[in-house]
Amino acid sequence: MRTLITNIGELSTCTMQIDGGAGIIRDAAVLVEDERIAWVGAAADAPVADEIVDAAGRAMIPGFVDSHSHIVFGGDRAAEFEARMAGEKYAAGGIRSTVAATRVASDDELRARLRGFIAEMHAQGTTTVEIKSGYGLDVETEERLVRLAAEATDEVTFLGAHVVPAEYADDPDGYVDLVTGPMLDACAPHAKWIDVFCETGAFTVEQSRRVLEAGTAHGLAPRVHASQLGPGDGVRMAIELGAASVDHGTYLTDGDVAALAASDTVLTLLPGVEFSTRQPYPDARRLIDAGVTVALACDTNPGSSFTSSMPFCIAVAVRDMGMTPAEALWAATAGGAAALRRDDIGVIAPGARADLVLLDAPSHVHLSYRPGVPLVSTVWKDGVLVA
Ligand code: NIG
Ligand code: FE
Repeated sequence: MRTLITNIGELSTCTMQIDGGAGIIRDAAVLVEDERIAWVGAAADAPVADEIVDAAGRAMIPGFVDSHSHIVFGGDRAAEFEARMAGEKYAAGGIRSTVAATRVASDDELRARLRGFIAEMHAQGTTTVEIKSGYGLDVETEERLVRLAAEATDEVTFLGAHVVPAEYADDPDGYVDLVTGPMLDACAPHAKWIDVFCETGAFTVEQSRRVLEAGTAHGLAPRVHASQLGPGDGVRMAIELGAASVDHGTYLTDGDVAALAASDTVLTLLPGVEFSTRQPYPDARRLIDAGVTVALACDTNPGSSFTSSMPFCIAVAVRDMGMTPAEALWAATAGGAAALRRDDIGVIAPGARADLVLLDAPSHVHLSYRPGVPLVSTVWKDGVLVA
């Protein structure tokens, strides 16, 4: 089946990063053949197809690649958010309350919730999402979480080292033994990535290194949460271990920025976190100007960022982090793909997966120009309409 989507007023292919260029083609068309993109170019030159979709002059972008989420959990933390807005500080310890709610939730409850988040994400233009465990923190529950996540995505991350659970409060190294031993044995078969929250109040650099090295020995590839709550050595450790991405990076030193720029590690910014925890926004301009590859993701989770909206994150990144609209779009699509070491998603190019979003707007700039407005009108994933 060959479907031609034509009369696209502005097509952001996201195939070019230079100059913040979104690789724009005007008056464009895209030919979809089964689950792949078969051809991209000027509408006037389009090949014949079995079916025609008229985009009516609107803008098309690649489906968003949300490379960081925690969407298998029980309960919520609305009361914690309310208290924070009244002046309380965000702390890693809040994770434990979600752990308690998750351990008592059934597989069916967690699965229904997860499916709800995926539908919510599709409706907002996200076609690939990475999903982390990390609200089980015992062997049985972590195994359930990675198994359920694997029902929804190929990009599953084992995050047993999210925080030290209450029952190991006096023996954090004993917990690291559990994570790197039986928990990893149970979870690795369902996962592709290993992650750790390397931060004061969570895991030290030494503990984080142990976790990542054990994961790597089990065939998982590393990614790291670091420098969310303050500066630390986690960024350098992640680069040294060849992490695909370091996520958060709210407090980066000049040395971190230089090391990132000289590496293959992507820095994934999570604007929803600074928004929802009232921390200072990181300076994306500084990172991009230094040559760092930057991705944007939602970090959907009940504690630090309970948004699943990539358009919202783009709007904040443009308004408060110094990104141009084109850079933010690239970071939310091709940048997310780079953070997952994928080249078959996040771009509109022949051979890529047909993950496409038609906007109810004439240009990608409207994603940040019209914050909070539901501009995503039609979404294809692997050539199939999902929203
Ligand atoms: O990415 N930083 C650690 N983990 C999550 C927050 C989890 C929570 O507060 O429940 C994050 O921000
Ligand atoms: Fe996270």
